Amino acid sequence: TGKKAFIAGVADDQGFGWAIAKALAEAGAEISLGVWVPALKIFEGSYTKGKFDKSRQLSNGGLLEFTHIFPMDAVYDTPEGVPEDVKSNKRYAAAGDKGFTVSEVARNVESEVGKIDLLVHSLANGPEVTKPLLETSRHGYLAALSASAYSNVSMLQHFGPLMNENGASISLTYLASERIIPGYGGGMSSAKAALESDTRVLAYEAGRKHKIRVNAISAGPLGSRAAKAIGFIDKMIAYSYANAPIQKELAASEVGNAAAFLLSPLASAITGTVIHVDNGLHAMGLAPD
Ligand code: NAI
Repeated sequence: TGKKAFIAGVADDQGFGWAIAKALAEAGAEISLGVWVPALKIFEGSYTKGKFDKSRQLSNGGLLEFTHIFPMDAVYDTPEGVPEDVKSNKRYAAAGDKGFTVSEVARNVESEVGKIDLLVHSLANGPEVTKPLLETSRHGYLAALSASAYSNVSMLQHFGPLMNENGASISLTYLASERIIPGYGGGMSSAKAALESDTRVLAYEAGRKHKIRVNAISAGPLGSRAAKAIGFIDKMIAYSYANAPIQKELAASEVGNAAAFLLSPLASAITGTVIHVDNGLHAMGLAPD
């Protein structure tokens, strides 16, 4: 209660970021968002037109509110690092002069929200995700790492100094980092492996430097917008239903609740971990009959 959260990676009401926002709001936190610049206009339009009102319902009868919405692009750290064609792109130019790079968003959060307690990284992007790793270009591989793994390092680098002691951060990863998932290509499996390894190193470094905790949730399959773009999400959901110890479809709210737990004082001694929230699928070694 009374905690301030910043969540990067919400652009509709279908993904894990939204579910985490909702679970944190249920627990009494104040939520601000970092929304990917190309998705900002549609998100804000849908939000103000009431398209999300049904999914905004909280159990106390209120509605999920976002105190601030910041344009953000987590593949850029400073304004100097933004290429000219991006700067002059219509949608990026329309994002305003306060900037959308990670360092600028951190500065904007500090001046408009103040110090924060909870940091959520719920974003990923890999331009060649549909290509097998064996056919992935250097550019595609590095782009996947940049958007999906370094973005988390950059967020902790820039938001760490404005986080209160006993704060916590969380990111979302996927089983493809540790098991072969054909179809999750383009270096995305590599990016998730980096994200998980970084979770341990950052837990140590940010723990010592800022007294904050760093964890990741390895989530089961969910038919979010990002997942639909990969193309085999329905197959993954069916596979999980058929093979996981708990035979049910994963709800985004189950990941939201686990995130709220990991970000709360109930998890005050948990840091540097990757927790599977996947109906147990990760633990199987052989498909059941
Ligand atoms: P989503 O589409 O709701 O969320 C991804 C978000 O990332 C979108 O809002 C998109 O606008 C944002 N984004 C992309 N590039 C960005 C950038 N450069 N800067 C800022 N924002 C950017 O989809 P989902 O599935 O909820 O994804 C959230 C996280 O969960 C991701 O890390 C994903 O890899 C992870 N995850 C998803 C699984 C699934 O089956 N959907 C399974 C396991 C992990």
